[in-house]
Amino acid sequence: MWMTRYLDAQNDLFLYGDQKMKITIIGTGYVGLVTGACLAELGNDVFCLDVDQRKIDILNNGGIPIHEPGLEEIVARNRAAGRIQFSTDVEASVKHGDVQFIAVGTPPDEDGSADLQYVVAAAKNIGKYMTNFKVVVDKSTVPVGTADRVSAAIAAELAARSVTAEFSVVSNPEFLKEGAAVEDFMRPDRIVIGCDQTPQGEKARSQMKKLYAPFNRNHERTYWMDVRSAEFTKYAANAMLATRISFMNELANLADHVGADIEAVRHGIGSDPRIGHSFLYAGCGYGGSCFPKDVQALERTAQDYGLNLLILQAVEAVNARQKQVLGKKIQQRFGENLSGRHFAIWGLAFKPNTDDMRAASSRVLLGELLRAGATVAVYDPVSMQEAKRVFELDFYDAPELLASIRYAANPMDALLEADALAIVTEWKAFRSPDFDEVKARLKQPVVFDGRNLFEPTVMTELGIEYHGIGRSVLTNK
Ligand SMILES: NC(=O)c1ccc[n+]([C@@H]2O[C@H](COP(=O)([O-])OP(=O)(O)OC[C@H]3O[C@@H](n4cnc5c(N)ncnc54)[C@H](O)[C@@H]3O)[C@@H](O)[C@H]2O)c1
Repeated sequence: MWMTRYLDAQNDLFLYGDQKMKITIIGTGYVGLVTGACLAELGNDVFCLDVDQRKIDILNNGGIPIHEPGLEEIVARNRAAGRIQFSTDVEASVKHGDVQFIAVGTPPDEDGSADLQYVVAAAKNIGKYMTNFKVVVDKSTVPVGTADRVSAAIAAELAARSVTAEFSVVSNPEFLKEGAAVEDFMRPDRIVIGCDQTPQGEKARSQMKKLYAPFNRNHERTYWMDVRSAEFTKYAANAMLATRISFMNELANLADHVGADIEAVRHGIGSDPRIGHSFLYAGCGYGGSCFPKDVQALERTAQDYGLNLLILQAVEAVNARQKQVLGKKIQQRFGENLSGRHFAIWGLAFKPNTDDMRAASSRVLLGELLRAGATVAVYDPVSMQEAKRVFELDFYDAPELLASIRYAANPMDALLEADALAIVTEWKAFRSPDFDEVKARLKQPVVFDGRNLFEPTVMTELGIEYHGIGRSVLTNK
């Protein structure tokens, strides 16, 4: 089904002859690899650069370093057609692309600001080797003003070589969602591009227009703006989404106290078109590589200008507290000291359809349970390997805690002899388990549902003690 729809899109979007462009993608991570693969799928000639030899080797051996639905087929198809190549050769990468996308990581620095060292390193490399006009595209999520830093880094390298070559830095933030990244890239809601109004900026604008033309055939999806507004738009979008989640989480905790059902409330407010249904799910906190760091980075930018973003401070504080909510509920039920207790966790990735464990709520819950003395069996459909890697880092100074984690072979295996099940990620595979088997395997039928997958009344009828988020009213009836 997915494939059929995709091929339709391909027929519609494919480029021929001189419409094809030479593109370099710097940073072959979630965003870079998806961007590169999708632009190759349209017919462009794409060079993907990374400093991580391991990633490049995996890709050159026909593998894929991340889990992202549909991506493997696209990469394989375009490699076979000679439209995409993977390399660590910086000089060749700069020579290749008329358009150079910077898609490296921008992790949080110690003070919460975005760490721009990888972006600046990429910019310097461009300056070191470029000899003709380049459009340099900031695709990474970067604070307002970063394009100026990128320009300065390139200009300094050109000056050091006494080379005169023109370039223009464009902001083109990425809005894809991990788990649906290919679909999001190929069928974007909107494309945001910020260019400056210099002659080089105008040249860059026309190249970006040509590159994105296939996406605008049906209707115009591009919002053209100045560079700073484009940089800001990405942070504003993530901050808004994080705010909705924290808002609902805060109300869910109140609902637990006042005897209201947050799911009923969600329907009741989401039906108002001014509010809408998206991103109103209460749960055990947001994670991932974007919301936590982008909210922090926007706050940090404000502080640089002497401003405090009070709403975003609260969004972050509420989220930090919400990541502890499952642990608290478990300790309320079983006592603060969990020695001798054993729990099962379903779902480790920060959200379904990805193996990304960055800032995942599961890490907080696991730490709380282990530190309170419990042993834990964990299961996730795709992130087991990544989870092992991450937990070894999280507990590097506490090998006894690491030894208390069992990696289960499947969801039911995780339940064996557990005092309760905690659900942290809303994978489809967890939505309709065989509840008789769940009951039979658990030591006692207790479920802590961090994503409100189940109906409390149904669970009670099944004889399962159920703890959702903001749903106590139904469980206690
Ligand atoms: N992951 C998402 O869902 C998502 C969505 C939208 C925007 N973003 C933003 O896009 C950017 C990239 O995110 P990601 O999740 O793809 O990161 P990632 O960590 O998965 O990938 C970054 C890659 O860049 C490589 N790299 C670092 N320095 C390099 C250099 N100088 N030259 C070449 N390669 C280099 C790293 O080895 C890594 O493979 C971030 O700013 C992020 O905030 C991410």
